[in-house]
Amino acid sequence: MGVELDQRTEAPANGELRVAPSILSADFAHLGAAVAAIEPVCSWLHVDVMDGHFVPNLTIGPPVVQSLRPVSQLFFDCHLMITNPERYLEAFKVAGADGCTVHVEVGNTAAHLDHMEDLGLRLGLAVNPDGDFSLVEPFMDRLDLLLVMTVFPGFGGQSFIADAMATVAAARAYATAHHLAVDIEVDGGIGPSTIATATEAGANVFVAGSAIFGAADPARAAAGLLEAATATRRSLG
Ligand code: DX5
Ligand code: ZN
Repeated sequence: MGVELDQRTEAPANGELRVAPSILSADFAHLGAAVAAIEPVCSWLHVDVMDGHFVPNLTIGPPVVQSLRPVSQLFFDCHLMITNPERYLEAFKVAGADGCTVHVEVGNTAAHLDHMEDLGLRLGLAVNPDGDFSLVEPFMDRLDLLLVMTVFPGFGGQSFIADAMATVAAARAYATAHHLAVDIEVDGGIGPSTIATATEAGANVFVAGSAIFGAADPARAAAGLLEAATATRRSLG
């Protein structure tokens, strides 16, 4: 299991509903203002890191985290879509990352989790929409966060892949059966028309990029997503 966290990065209670805006969809010419706009209504910020090798896109790295750290109290949830995360985990920690998530598809998962734990990062593991829960089950007892991708990684604005809900449901069932305080995060195509489905399947952290930063009022859009997840959770009893 991950490490004790300080007040700012207090890990949410198991299953607490969270919306994590993805800055990939924000205006990079005004990133500080974009983050400030959602800061009052969110507690997490999703930072999409891509290396142009694990995924066919190239985005940002530790310097952007370092620039945002002093101006934001949000939990920095860094999604590392990169082939060799071991080369950069320390740099992300030093820059101000609170949690990092590596992909099970890059291999060496146990070593990456050890490395994150040694650095005092919250431990995250991601699986692509075509990945089976069996790929990540061996690591579940160690995780603070399991990220079930609902698009194939690389770009914002893609359509939700509902087949991934089977993995979300299997993960939630496993966490419940084993009394694990692990967040189950979904990422990709999350918006007003899909967040209920993800909540019903058992997700509790919802990454949204275009649905938030593509909206006229990002704070209102983020709040609306949280309200929708809360209403769905309540309807489940
Ligand atoms: C895709 C990223 C996602 C993406 C989400 O590889 O991991 O976080 O930015 O963007 P939307 O919400 O627009 O699908
Ligand atoms: Zn992401």
